[in-house]
Amino acid sequence: MFNLILFGPPGSGKGTQSDKLVDKYGLIHLSTGNLLREEISHKTPLGLEAKSFMDKGRLVPDEVVIGMIGTCLDNHKDAKGFLFDGFPRTVAQAQALDKLLELKKTGISAVLALDVGEDELVKRLLNRGKTSGRSDDSDEDVIRKRFSVYKDETTPVADHYKKAKKFQSIKGEGTVDEIFDAVSKVIDKKMK
Ligand code: AP5
Ligand code: MG
Repeated sequence: MFNLILFGPPGSGKGTQSDKLVDKYGLIHLSTGNLLREEISHKTPLGLEAKSFMDKGRLVPDEVVIGMIGTCLDNHKDAKGFLFDGFPRTVAQAQALDKLLELKKTGISAVLALDVGEDELVKRLLNRGKTSGRSDDSDEDVIRKRFSVYKDETTPVADHYKKAKKFQSIKGEGTVDEIFDAVSKVIDKKMK
């Protein structure tokens, strides 16, 4: 299996690149943000609980997202590999993912981080907020809160994978296609 984590701050292009990468490499896309928004749109109890955190730019509790990922892995027993987008976001999530993959006798193949400056991120998110309907994109205070949560709770996840020598940064500014080419090159090398 080839299991990729696309890492990076809010607005760095994880979702945009994931859509192209799953087409090219035939991986199953697992975005916890998308899964949570789906729960919200169906007004499930999980969705209602998650919404209260997401609207404030805070992380949904670990046990909720880890449970969701566990179910998805079980639902795709024959997958060639997974592309994790927006997960893991805490060290506890990273450790849980290691264990879940170990049970499937596999592991993380690579962690690619999209590197984008904060001014560009704010610009992208406010711009998307005009049309996306995402409640966490329209208010600059909530966007800033998401960045501070990323710094405090999610950057330690990078260290977790640096220790395992699986982490690599890629320039996340430029056109979508330029970034896609750069990411694809790294994946092609890792797949060899
Ligand atoms: P999530 O949905 O994961 O959002 P995020 O990490 O904040 O990231 P975004 O989806 O906003 O950005 P992205 O990197 O995917 O960029 P995109 O491609 O969209 O999480 C939302 C919330 O859910 C969290 O705050 C949390 O509450 C909860 N949650 C989710 N996962 C969780 C977890 N594991 N644990 C706990 N809580 C969790 O691009 C952004 C914009 O930029 C788009 O408009 C795009 O068109 C544009 N763009 C993309 N690439 C370029 C480019 N090269 N040039 C110019 N514009 C570009
Ligand atoms: Mg996204």
